[in-house]
Amino acid sequence: MTRQIRFNAFDMNCVAHQSPGLWRHPDDQSHRYTDLGYWTDLARLLERGLFDGLFIADVLGTYDVYGGTDEAALRQGAQIPVADPLLLVSAMAAVTEHLGFGITTGTGFEHPYPFARRLSTLDHLTGGRIGWNVVTGYLPSAARNFGDADQLDHDTRYDHADEYLEVLYKLWEGSWEDDAVVRDTERGVYVDPEKVHHIGHRGTHFTVPGIHLSEPSPQRSPVIYQAGASPRGVRFAAENAEAIFVGPPSKRVLKDTVARIRQALVDAGRDPYSARIYALSTVITGSTDEAAAAKQEEYRRYADLEGALVFTSGWMGIDLSRYDLDDPIGNVESNAIQSAVAAFQEAADDGREWTVRDIAEWASIGGLGPRFVGSGETVATQLQEWVADTDVDGFNLAYAITPGSFEDVVTHVVPALQARGAYPTGYTDGTLRHKLFDKGDRLPADHRGARYRLGGDLSTRTDRYRAYTNT
Ligand SMILES: Cc1cc2nc3c(=O)[nH]c(=O)nc-3n(C[C@H](O)[C@H](O)[C@H](O)COP(=O)(O)O)c2cc1C
Repeated sequence: MTRQIRFNAFDMNCVAHQSPGLWRHPDDQSHRYTDLGYWTDLARLLERGLFDGLFIADVLGTYDVYGGTDEAALRQGAQIPVADPLLLVSAMAAVTEHLGFGITTGTGFEHPYPFARRLSTLDHLTGGRIGWNVVTGYLPSAARNFGDADQLDHDTRYDHADEYLEVLYKLWEGSWEDDAVVRDTERGVYVDPEKVHHIGHRGTHFTVPGIHLSEPSPQRSPVIYQAGASPRGVRFAAENAEAIFVGPPSKRVLKDTVARIRQALVDAGRDPYSARIYALSTVITGSTDEAAAAKQEEYRRYADLEGALVFTSGWMGIDLSRYDLDDPIGNVESNAIQSAVAAFQEAADDGREWTVRDIAEWASIGGLGPRFVGSGETVATQLQEWVADTDVDGFNLAYAITPGSFEDVVTHVVPALQARGAYPTGYTDGTLRHKLFDKGDRLPADHRGARYRLGGDLSTRTDRYRAYTNT
């Protein structure tokens, strides 16, 4: 059977997202990010194209690694100004029926207790279409504005995130029984207190003795997304993620990354296909190969190299302003996104080392993933080859211009793939989790979060309260 390819759209509540300079293009609408109409139109478009979801990135800091200042980032509009992604979801959910929402928030910046309620609220309001992209952060400027001298070390950030998720799973999965809300008008009882349980969490970073504030939502835990591919990041993903975003620049590195992730899922006691893996990429397409190539040339004229260096410095945690443009990237060590650096070091498989200029040019349209350029048929063939050769499930599509790049994919690539039986022709009904896996609304039994369900030793509110108070 022909393998189905899945699409996510990659955007952010800011201008030009990962295509620095392209906000100057006359057809780019990203400056309308403060206008709700931009988001509701985009959601409708993506649902028309049968995308799994809209993935909205976020950072709580500025890209001030480049030159040690935020001046270039501000001048370029390089993900600054940036607005909150979660607040966009209700409006987009109101104009769509099936589109999923993968929203990014960091584990280092907000206590899990109010965050658990916010995501439960969105899971209710979207009818179970919410996903959460768990990030541990990479910008030191974010940590500084929370009163810390610097961010935690790379691997320690993941240890902290482990406990963050433990608290959330306990609240989402283990606090309210499904039938706790009885709404009994005769007895005047809205909630049966015996069916709502203290979580009794006392850990290294968090103490949360009480109950979740929200009643169970369609999915309980949102679909967990993750986007780190370092060894520690992959272990974290294997234990938690149901959708994984990766960003390798070459097919060979992508193949290795996908194989590592599938093996890590098995090592974590899960099915190797229990997480959908989406590769970051940018599609530039048109009615013919020539039209698409001309579009790419035009986009190149607007793409800004300094803006690309601002981003890549932040992603790699290296001030690239201190390098000559023709310097090789070499064996630098990163305390930011380790996999971003490693991907370029590994991608040098033709014996040529990537220079700073190569990376900036590569990343200036759509970021670190590969670029597919051509007619709908040509791009469909390329995408099918990548899926067949790497075992990736689909693509997380960054834009050159928005919504133009997404419109082009929906107009040219989606029908070409559908004609080959390689793309869905309709949505499955139900929650986002059910649409992705066809196995129901809730976390599967082999997922880490399922361990925190009610039952076992701590099944009553008294047991859990005692566990917390050690009485
Ligand atoms: C495709 C992709 C998208 C990402 N999006 C975000 C984001 O929106 N916000 C963020 O703070 N980190 C983002 N990250 C960073 C990672 O999620 C991760 O938390 C961290 O930087 C460590 O990554 P590593 O395990 O690969 O070293 C992204 C990474 C990749 C590869």
